[in-house]
Amino acid sequence: MILAGRRVLLGVSGGIASYKSCTIARRLTEAGAVVDVVLTPSAAEFVRPVTFEALTGRPVLVSLWEPGQSLAHVHLARDAELAVVAPATANLIARAALGLADDLLSACLLARTGPVLLAPAMNDRMFAHPATQENLATLEKRGWEIVGPAVGALAEGPSDLPGRMVEPEEVLAHIERLLRSSGSRLRGKRVLVTAGATREPIDPVRVLSNRSSGRMGYAVAAAAFARGADVVLVSGPTALEAPVGIAVTPVETTEDLRRAVARELKRADVLVMAAAPSDFRPRAPAGAKRPRGEGALKLELEPTDDVLASTVKGRPKNLVAVGFALEVGGGLDRAREKLMGKQLDFIVHNDAAEPGAGFEVDTNRVTIIARGGEVTNLPLLSKRDVAERILDAVERVL
Ligand SMILES: Cc1cc2nc3c(=O)[nH]c(=O)nc-3n(C[C@H](O)[C@H](O)[C@H](O)COP(=O)(O)O)c2cc1C
Repeated sequence: MILAGRRVLLGVSGGIASYKSCTIARRLTEAGAVVDVVLTPSAAEFVRPVTFEALTGRPVLVSLWEPGQSLAHVHLARDAELAVVAPATANLIARAALGLADDLLSACLLARTGPVLLAPAMNDRMFAHPATQENLATLEKRGWEIVGPAVGALAEGPSDLPGRMVEPEEVLAHIERLLRSSGSRLRGKRVLVTAGATREPIDPVRVLSNRSSGRMGYAVAAAAFARGADVVLVSGPTALEAPVGIAVTPVETTEDLRRAVARELKRADVLVMAAAPSDFRPRAPAGAKRPRGEGALKLELEPTDDVLASTVKGRPKNLVAVGFALEVGGGLDRAREKLMGKQLDFIVHNDAAEPGAGFEVDTNRVTIIARGGEVTNLPLLSKRDVAERILDAVERVL
């Protein structure tokens, strides 16, 4: 997360999930945000204010009546760029919907004019109650954002209905999006990202594939979501979790990938092709699993369609298209040829022979080449940081 100097008011109300807010406070602080925590008196029964003080390095308030803090509710409400309430209890949600201001947190929320994000957390029957539903609808109508609740186990036992708070990671992704999207040209833009390897069948159980983990494409998708884009992620099989807020369209073969991209392309403003589609496939996949006892197996391979080239040829006029060129040992000139030949706006070159770059690692060392010839050599960075730099380049030409 990139939140240096951003001011967040983190409200915590009295639900069992309040222990998860400690993670939210810590992660925001680590990302450079200035975090003011306000607890309801009930929340302070679950987690003591000193915990949040230690995590944020800032004073934590509970009461309206603290000496020296007599107008804290007005200042906190005004100074925060974003107010977040996690967990938001049924009771806090009801107070906010009614406009009550009988403790510091509800007074802050009533004095607030800027964006507010709520992460409701409660028993599933409390959440389903018409009173809670109507209160949430009221707050949504007023422009507050609501994330969750999730379906799953509650403190009191298993449940298959919504009630529990979404995980801190999900709250954090929404916080980052709300804070970063206002200054981004990607806000509201549709970004189509491809990721991962494809798999070509040899027979019903065996496949031909490659070592792409999907991490680079998933990082681009997450970074685009953080900038306020609507993201579509077309992904080959990976071991990765879907990034928060992004629906993944799963594909298996290079042909599936080509079709999925062609379907989504018409509505896209930006295309980032980070997938590693298989360039070859068995010409005649076997209908049954061939036993080892039959001896050596010869595979005849045929080239698959060049997805990048065929996609970019039929591209919408204003699309910004980014391709990747993975080479082993140099290959900058080949990347340049690919940039021009495939009519891309940028090509991201990386050399898999370099330590820390390429497949199955969390880092990458890339060179971004723009259509106009501008070359940006980046140092070894996390894939998320590489993704941010790629999107900086995209934003400059959008
Ligand atoms: C152990 C325990 C767990 C609770 N968990 C929740 C919860 O997850 N969600 C909720 O809405 N209320 C929960 N409550 C009830 C609230 O604490 C209660 O409604 C309280 O008045 C909330 O005050 P607040 O909204 O000012 O924090 C819980 C109460 C107890 C004793």
